Amino acid sequence: MSGLQQDWPEPVVRVQSLSDSGITAIPDRYIRPVSDRPSAGDGFFAEGPDNNIPIVDLGMEDPADVLDQVSRACRDWGFFQAVNHGVNPELMDRARDVWRQFFHLPMELKQTYSNSPTTYEGYGSRLGIEKGAILDWGDYYFLHYLPTCIKDYNKWPALPSSCREVIEEYGKQVVALAEGLMKILSVNLGLEEDFLQRQFGGDDVGACLRVNFYPRCPQCDLTLGLSPHSDPGGMTLLLPDDHVPGLQIRRHDKWITVKPARHAFVINIGDQIQVLSNAIYKSVEHRVIVNSTDERVSLAFFYNPKSDIPIGPAEELVTPESPALYSPMTFDQYRLFIRMRGPRGKSQVDSLMSQRPSGEGCDGSGRPPVEHSD
Ligand code: OGA
Ligand code: NI
Repeated sequence: MSGLQQDWPEPVVRVQSLSDSGITAIPDRYIRPVSDRPSAGDGFFAEGPDNNIPIVDLGMEDPADVLDQVSRACRDWGFFQAVNHGVNPELMDRARDVWRQFFHLPMELKQTYSNSPTTYEGYGSRLGIEKGAILDWGDYYFLHYLPTCIKDYNKWPALPSSCREVIEEYGKQVVALAEGLMKILSVNLGLEEDFLQRQFGGDDVGACLRVNFYPRCPQCDLTLGLSPHSDPGGMTLLLPDDHVPGLQIRRHDKWITVKPARHAFVINIGDQIQVLSNAIYKSVEHRVIVNSTDERVSLAFFYNPKSDIPIGPAEELVTPESPALYSPMTFDQYRLFIRMRGPRGKSQVDSLMSQRPSGEGCDGSGRPPVEHSD
C-alpha cells in the first residue's frame, strides 16, 4: 500500500459523544460557510409533483410499465423510490433496528471496530484525510458484503447478537433487487439484459454497506449530516429512517427533501453508471440535513463494479453524435481518489471528463491524480 495515509490526520471525535455530552454549541469544525448551510426555505416538504422523487411500483402487472417508469425516473431524476421490490419488509425493519441498537451500545465496545483510512471498514466518523477539513455531523459503519473473498465477518459487529445474521440475509435480498434493477437499466439503455452486470464483472461485482448514524444536533442550521456528493459506485439502494427525514437531492439548483414511502428503497444512480451510460443516466448530488430533536439511521447499500476493471462509456452508446465523455478508470482508482479528498459534490465524476472530443487517450485529460492502492 502506498500513497494512502494509514491513520486519520487528527484524533477522531465521535459525533454521538459530542451530541450526548449535552453541548449547546457545536465545535467550529462542524460549522459550514453560510452558503453551504441548510437554509430554512429550501424546498423542505414543498408540495407538488416536482418536489418529490418518483415512486415506482416494481410489482406492476405489465413489465413494460415498470421499464417505462424506471426509465423516466433514471433520465429525469437519477433517483426514485422503489416499492414492491421483493425485499421482505420485516427484514428491512429488523436491519434498521439492529443497527440502531448497535449505535446505542457502549462507546468502548464500538471503538473496538474503529476504522482507518486504508480500508474504511468499521466504525468511522469522517470521509477524507484532509487535515483541518470541515466535518459532517454523523458517524457510520462501513463493511464489505461482496465479493466473498473480501467479506470478513470479523469486521462486522458481533453485537447485537443477531447483527451478522441479519446483515447476511439483508445483503442477499438487496443484491437480488440490485441485479433485477441492473437488467431493467440495461434494457432501458437499449442493451442486452445482462449488459451492465457483465460490465460490472459478472459474478465478481462488489457490494458494501454504509450505515449512517446522525445524532441530534443542537445547531442543526449550521451544519450537515453528510456533505453534498454523488455516490461513487454503481447504484445505491438506501433504506432511510422510517420516521426522520433528512436526505435532500439537488434539483434545478434547489434542495428537495425526500419523503420516504413506507418500506420503500431510495434508489439512485452512481458515478459508474453515469460513466457506463455515457451520461444518459446521471448520478445526482445529494446531502443529509440533521435536526435538534431526533437522531436518524439510514442503511446505504452500494452495488459496485468489480474493483479492477476499467469502467468507461459502453461502446454501444458511443456514436459520432454522442462521443465518449469519459476516460476509463477502475473503481479502485476512482474510490481511492474520493477517499483522499472526501465528498465534493459532483466534481469527482466531472473530472473524469475527457478533454479531447474523441474521448480517446487520457494523459493530461483532467483525470483525477490517482495513485494505485497496492
Ligand atoms: C450515503 C448517503 C443518505 C442518507 O451514505 O451515501 O447519501 O440518507 N446517505 O443517509
Ligand atoms: Ni450518498
